[in-house]
Amino acid sequence: MKSKSFNTYKRLLIYSKPYTGRIILALVGSLGVVGVDVATAQLMKPLVDKIVIGKSYTLVNFVPFIIVGMAIFKGVSRYIQEFFIKTAGQMIVQDVRNDLYSHSMGLSMRYYVRNSTGNMMSRILNDVGVMQRSAADVLVDAVRETFTLVGLTASAFYSDWRLACVAFLVLPLALGPASLIGRKIKEYTQRSQATMGNLTAVLQESFSGVKVIKAFGTEAYETLRFRAENLAFYRFIRKTLKYDAASAPVIEILASLGIAGVFWYGLHRVISGAITQGELFAFAASVLMMYTPVKRLIKVNNQVQRSIGAAERVFEVLDEIPDINDSPSAREMHRVQGRVEFDKVSFAYDEEPVLQDVSLTAAPGEVVALVGPSGAGKSTLVGLLSRFYDPQAGTILIDGEDIRQVTLESLKKNLALVDQETFLFHDSIRENIRYSRQGATDAEVEEAARLAYADEFIRLLPGGFESSIGDRGVRLSGGQRQRICIARAILRDAPILILDEATSALDTESEAMVQDALANLMRNRTTFVIAHRLSTIMHADKIVVLEGGRIVDVGTHQELIGRSGLYKKLYDMQFRDE
Ligand SMILES: Nc1ncnc2c1ncn2[C@@H]1O[C@H](COP(=O)(O)OP(=O)(O)O)[C@@H](O)[C@H]1O
Ligand SMILES: [Mg+2]
Repeated sequence: MKSKSFNTYKRLLIYSKPYTGRIILALVGSLGVVGVDVATAQLMKPLVDKIVIGKSYTLVNFVPFIIVGMAIFKGVSRYIQEFFIKTAGQMIVQDVRNDLYSHSMGLSMRYYVRNSTGNMMSRILNDVGVMQRSAADVLVDAVRETFTLVGLTASAFYSDWRLACVAFLVLPLALGPASLIGRKIKEYTQRSQATMGNLTAVLQESFSGVKVIKAFGTEAYETLRFRAENLAFYRFIRKTLKYDAASAPVIEILASLGIAGVFWYGLHRVISGAITQGELFAFAASVLMMYTPVKRLIKVNNQVQRSIGAAERVFEVLDEIPDINDSPSAREMHRVQGRVEFDKVSFAYDEEPVLQDVSLTAAPGEVVALVGPSGAGKSTLVGLLSRFYDPQAGTILIDGEDIRQVTLESLKKNLALVDQETFLFHDSIRENIRYSRQGATDAEVEEAARLAYADEFIRLLPGGFESSIGDRGVRLSGGQRQRICIARAILRDAPILILDEATSALDTESEAMVQDALANLMRNRTTFVIAHRLSTIMHADKIVVLEGGRIVDVGTHQELIGRSGLYKKLYDMQFRDE
């Protein structure tokens, strides 16, 4: 456990490395602060002995200058320390956030299904925030307080080593409680951060699902849910505050033992003439000032523990090895002909098999329709082509090449996907279409929109192609959104096209139009099409019937109707509906 904390702290320090210059400047500043503290203690002796007892008026006039001068020096030093260490800390936070985000982007679908969006957001925003007073910051505090402590200790020993020994007997006693407090703070920080994750998850869900909440009138229920998480968060924070607040009093009480001993013994030594009054004052000043850095060091330790608690949650994500990545020998896949082969593919999300022994070939330019009851595994099958997941058995080949042996980036360049989830970014319609091919010209974007039968309604919008979608932008119907997604896929111009319920949100009239667009789009491309309405896939070159993760039949519409199997049953059911 201890070594884990230590490793976490070391990793935090590695993030500080690029900012060594700032950290050193801050350290120099902190030494200035220490210097003033130690000088204050040492100036007590001449002050008392020469001025108060020696009654030297010339020296008295120096006193205000010394006080103000030291204050200015200390102030400037502290400013340098604070400014440079805080900016270094913020830059480190920025680096950690960037790393965390880019690493998260590389994680697979499997990871995102297991972890809630709220939880991920919370780690990137809140946990990194708690690390804010990060290793470097804390390091400078620790170094400054340690120097102060060493300086004042030296000053105390210089004044009277016997008295110093009495004062220091107490220090070892403080170590036990201090480390216990640190451990508790780390533990409760982690628990409070986990609750903060839940809290963010509730927030994220309720704001994106606000329509469902309004529809079912569950505002009060959601409020209760939020309050419960919020209270849980407060409870854990209270624990850390309890331990943090206890640390100073505990040390003070222990310190009083040392101070009591010093004064009792010290006064005896003054009376017996072993030391002067000035020496006792200098000594007492050193010892009294010494307990301040001790208290601060313990606060620093509490802070370190809090940082480590949050950092462990951050590093947990960074240590997550993406289970879908480029193999070391991965090659570039150039623009393919579009021959797709599933060879004895079996797949399960968890234990339950979802696809079993699926073999299927699509020749370049062929349209393959997948049909079957919902839950049959159609979306899963086409998802494997995009490597959302890798199959447990079997291989998927494109133009004869195993898709696990090519780079993900080059694989994706050959694919275009339209599914029923019509996700659009908070951006203009133009940029939303251009998303699939960053370099496309405005004319190409508009042409894609035209082919998707989207340009007509886009041009009627007040802002045309520049209309922005989302919060303060235009509201589009499901069918309109879907046509923008289709335009996006058209612009992509990939040799392999995946249409998973791509027309499900369209009404019959616009579907007829979009069918024409899709017919254009499918020409010369290998297309996998999943459609609820069988009328839309009747003309496919090949219809694959899936049930319970297995292929139960393959053929053309005419062939399958003739065999009166599952396809005929599905067809008859729809025919009756229509
Ligand atoms: N992310 C997932 N994790 C676990 N099980 C899943 C996941 N996605 C789908 N499934 C399950 O896999 C099966 C096939 O789902 P899917 O491929 O979406 O079917 P279809 O598209 O044919 O309706 C279903 O039983 C579904 O519950
Ligand atoms: Mg599906």
